[in-house]
Amino acid sequence: MTALNTNARIAVIGAGAMGAGIAQVAAQAGHPVLLLDNRPGAAAQAIEGIDRQLGKRVENGKLSAESRSATIARLHAVEAIEALAECELIIEAIVENLEVKRALFRQLEGICGEHCILASNTSSLSITSIAAQLNHPQRLLGLHFFNPAPVMALVEIVSGLASDPTLAECLYDTAKAWGKKPVHTRSTPGFIVNRVARPFYAESLRLLQEGAADCPTLDALMREAGGFAMGAFELTDLIGHDVNYAVTCSVFDAYYGDTRFLPSLIQKELVDAGRLGRKSGHGFYRYAEGSERPQPTSISSDHPVETCVVEGDLGIANALIARLREHQINVIQRDGQGLLKVGDAVLALSDGRMACQRAKEDGLRNLILLDLAFDYGKASRIAISCSADISPSALEHGVALLQRAGFKVSQLTDSPALAVLRTVAMLANEAADAVLQGVASAADIDLAMRAGVNYPQGPLAWADAIGLTHILNVLENLQTSYGEQRYRPSLLLRRRVAEGRTFHD
Ligand code: NAI
Repeated sequence: MTALNTNARIAVIGAGAMGAGIAQVAAQAGHPVLLLDNRPGAAAQAIEGIDRQLGKRVENGKLSAESRSATIARLHAVEAIEALAECELIIEAIVENLEVKRALFRQLEGICGEHCILASNTSSLSITSIAAQLNHPQRLLGLHFFNPAPVMALVEIVSGLASDPTLAECLYDTAKAWGKKPVHTRSTPGFIVNRVARPFYAESLRLLQEGAADCPTLDALMREAGGFAMGAFELTDLIGHDVNYAVTCSVFDAYYGDTRFLPSLIQKELVDAGRLGRKSGHGFYRYAEGSERPQPTSISSDHPVETCVVEGDLGIANALIARLREHQINVIQRDGQGLLKVGDAVLALSDGRMACQRAKEDGLRNLILLDLAFDYGKASRIAISCSADISPSALEHGVALLQRAGFKVSQLTDSPALAVLRTVAMLANEAADAVLQGVASAADIDLAMRAGVNYPQGPLAWADAIGLTHILNVLENLQTSYGEQRYRPSLLLRRRVAEGRTFHD
């Protein structure tokens, strides 16, 4: 089945933030669109709002005046549900309430033709459950847009237990024809993005709770080392802690309290205090006029360094060697266990063990562990942690070397797997479980995380690049350190490592 023809009449019910955006997307793609809301006048107001938005784009030279008027001419506010009788696709974006959505779709079944596709924009309710009481549950699917719908490329096409696969393909092709990046997913709690993204928030919140570093330092590491657009604290301040905490709680409850999704007491306290983030003027950071954003903590050293020794293969961090040489450091390479030595300091990539533990187990002195960077050749900041026995001179040497190569250095208290590495390992682990459980394909999960939440790389492709044996090792070490099920490696990860395959083979 191919995309709906642009002559096909589309209806959007609910003219709020999402409904208005979806109506705009469909109209811009060329469809006649009917917009309905149960608040009298709301649909007409929403169309006026879209017109104003498009007007700004015309002023900025991003849209032609003709496109603006053609789009607006295709949008029609209607006040009665009976007006939707001739529609071929009806997308619901009303209040997030199961009973209200069920009642609406039951009513629609009595009004629209038998070939009309019914779609819900729900972000947390089960498509299976919304469809359960319909005469034709096979024609109801999820069409989950992201906010703001005209801007965000991702659309999750959600199939419930009864959904017709040919209709899922039709919606997929239609979303593509609308300029979106669709992905298929089964109706499971959080679908793809709201499930796989949970560790992004959870791991930073945990490090904060354990006093590993402060918010601006952890945020800076996620941006400047991890390559993410924002760190977890600035992002949750933007989303709103009430909304983000509610999604975490709903996913946690839906998975019967699986500790992988455990909500954070720190975030709950913010919600309890009414510190909801930007919208209330205060979250992890303050947003009142004149408030200054606290700066990340860095350590520095002016110790002179000219030479270092690389023993063996640094694996994913091999780009460091060229970077050090570019900064006029003499790098001597010889065989060994993947260590970087400067003065008395021994630098190594974290494998998930704490520095104190690794120093003891591997018989290393003056150990400095390095966190993961998205690109070791370009990252502007890196996290380190040190073994307890480190001498001031070894720390000076290690920090000076990294600084010479152009890194700002943030020292975390000695924590398993540091900040970026544990976050990426847990994102990949969650994504692997979603693949294992048939929620979505590896390719669709990676696309969803890039297009839906702007990750620099899909978590599964990222894990492939790091090496699945290393990711498994990191998770096993995290699980041993904490003694918690939260860090248990996915069966799919173990299987791929045993088979010698990647997630994308
Ligand atoms: P909103 O509160 O901005 O808009 C909802 C609109 O639906 C309101 O205009 C309301 O008057 C209307 N409405 C409520 N019950 C109705 C009914 N029975 N019949 C007709 N109209 C009715 O809500 P928003 O944010 O647009 O969310 C709508 C849906 O989209 C929800 O299911 C939500 O979970 C989902 N969603 C929201 C996202 C977001 O970031 N806001 C992102 C993705 C999905």
